[in-house]
Amino acid sequence: MKSSIPSGKSKARSEDVLPGSPVRASRTQMTEIVLPQDSNALGNILGGRVMHLIDVAGAIAAIRHCRQQVVTASVDHLDFLSPVRVGDLIVLEAQVNRAFRTSVDVGVEVFSEDPKAGLRKRTTKAYLTFVALDETGTPVRVPPLIVKTREERRRFREAGERRELRAKARQKK
Ligand SMILES: CC(C)(COP(=O)(O)OP(=O)(O)OC[C@H]1O[C@@H](n2cnc3c(N)ncnc32)[C@H](O)[C@@H]1OP(=O)(O)O)[C@@H](O)C(=O)NCCC(=O)NCCS
Repeated sequence: MKSSIPSGKSKARSEDVLPGSPVRASRTQMTEIVLPQDSNALGNILGGRVMHLIDVAGAIAAIRHCRQQVVTASVDHLDFLSPVRVGDLIVLEAQVNRAFRTSVDVGVEVFSEDPKAGLRKRTTKAYLTFVALDETGTPVRVPPLIVKTREERRRFREAGERRELRAKARQKK
């Protein structure tokens, strides 16, 4: 897909061909217990703490795909659908949805889990873009993503649509 986002300084040359990596290689799950110091006066986890965990889980998935250091370039829209209470488990599941030239689209889903009943509820979902950098901080080409299942193909397609929307939004600024 052709992008209108410039990639001037990138080291990524069109002749560089890296072996592909399957979606499963990037899959990451992180679980933490929600402690009082991470909560607000209502006993719910702070939104900023959830955003931090989303960034960390997403970065791990990106690193597992790229095998390079990565930086967060953007975070798409975030809605907090339900609170996560102190004492609950917070579970994050991340995976790469699409690899572009030097960047990857990563999806992170966040669940609260009742530690006794084991019941899970989705609390939020986020999409982030990470850019792979070499040791000089220059963007470098990332491996292609191998998508196999219908679900992986859907996520791949939607990542392309989000990239188009981001490019349009940036043009308007
Ligand atoms: C992300 C960053 C490396 C991009 O640098 P740049 O000079 O724009 O690099 P390029 O133009 O070569 O673009 C490199 C890639 O970044 C992507 N990119 C750049 N800005 C982006 C944005 N706002 N959202 C999504 N992707 C972005 C480009 O699409 C390109 O991806 P592609 O090669 O897959 O098409 C640079 O802006 C940066 O270092 N930002 C700070 C990152 C950081 O510190 N994050 C932590 C939170 S502050």
